[in-house]
Amino acid sequence: MSQTEAWTIGRLLTWTADYLKQHGSDTPRLDAELLLAEAKGCSRVALYTQFTDVAADAERTAFRELVRRRAEGTPVAYLLGRREFYSLSFRVTGDVLIPRPETEFVVVALLDRVKDRAKAGVSAEKPLSIADVGTGSGILAICAAKYVPNARVTAIDVSPAALAVAKSNAADHGAAGRIEFLEGDLLSGLPAEATFDFIVSNPPYVSESEFAALAREVRDHEPRRALVAGERGTEVIERLVTQAAERLTPGGWLFMEISPMIEAAVRAIVEKEPRLELSATVKDLAGLARVVQSRKR
Ligand SMILES: C[S@@+](CC[C@H](N)C(=O)[O-])C[C@H]1O[C@@H](n2cnc3c(N)ncnc32)[C@H](O)[C@@H]1O
Repeated sequence: MSQTEAWTIGRLLTWTADYLKQHGSDTPRLDAELLLAEAKGCSRVALYTQFTDVAADAERTAFRELVRRRAEGTPVAYLLGRREFYSLSFRVTGDVLIPRPETEFVVVALLDRVKDRAKAGVSAEKPLSIADVGTGSGILAICAAKYVPNARVTAIDVSPAALAVAKSNAADHGAAGRIEFLEGDLLSGLPAEATFDFIVSNPPYVSESEFAALAREVRDHEPRRALVAGERGTEVIERLVTQAAERLTPGGWLFMEISPMIEAAVRAIVEKEPRLELSATVKDLAGLARVVQSRKR
């Protein structure tokens, strides 16, 4: 950075957006604004009224460090330690997958089916039991606890470090009292009698070969275990389908996020499970398959 002109907010943003673009960011201006707002301890919108202000030395030092890490490929969500999901703010660390907008379709599918039950006159007195398998930062469990009246949620993850993040997010959102957190392999560690009205999951579904082709930003920074399922990409889903069929109450629903590439394979896996009835796949706004839904007979 040239030392001759003053480093105003506007100039810092222009220079940094250009620098991050050269270092491979797809959203360089947005990244620059988010990181500068973080360094200054203000909102991104507040920067727009400060373009001609000169940044303080301490702010520039903090900003420079964030920009350095961003240019190395660290995702913005990890630098900020937060990501929005379903209009709520969640803490994220390198131990959890960064919440993706696609996963909101799982929440929508769940809330739609809960509404259907209410319309069908199913009593709302008995708490609905909901499991979130592979909870990560806890987004699905917390949305279920917040938005499903009378829900009792079980959030499971194989990673204790992810569970610690999920617990802190649940506490931040006042949902900790309605969620039980369990370390375990899918549903296998639950007591034999545990059953659920709904099971939601965004399981690992990337194949080994797809993982090798992922963007460096994802491959080098997000937890491999959150992404990769095995050679086919459907290995975790295969086990989950069998275990969910055992644990769902009659008429209960399983919602699994998938990638459009494995939709046919996942539908075939569910079709082979005689205890489940396959329903329509939820598509996103671009028409891509996102959530495979099935129901216990
Ligand atoms: C794709 S991430 C989803 C995280 C979060 N639900 C979300 O949507 O952002 C998958 C999560 O499943 C967890 N996981 C992977 N294999 C598992 C297994 N066998 N049993 C339980 N959790 C598992 C990972 O640790 C990771 O947190």
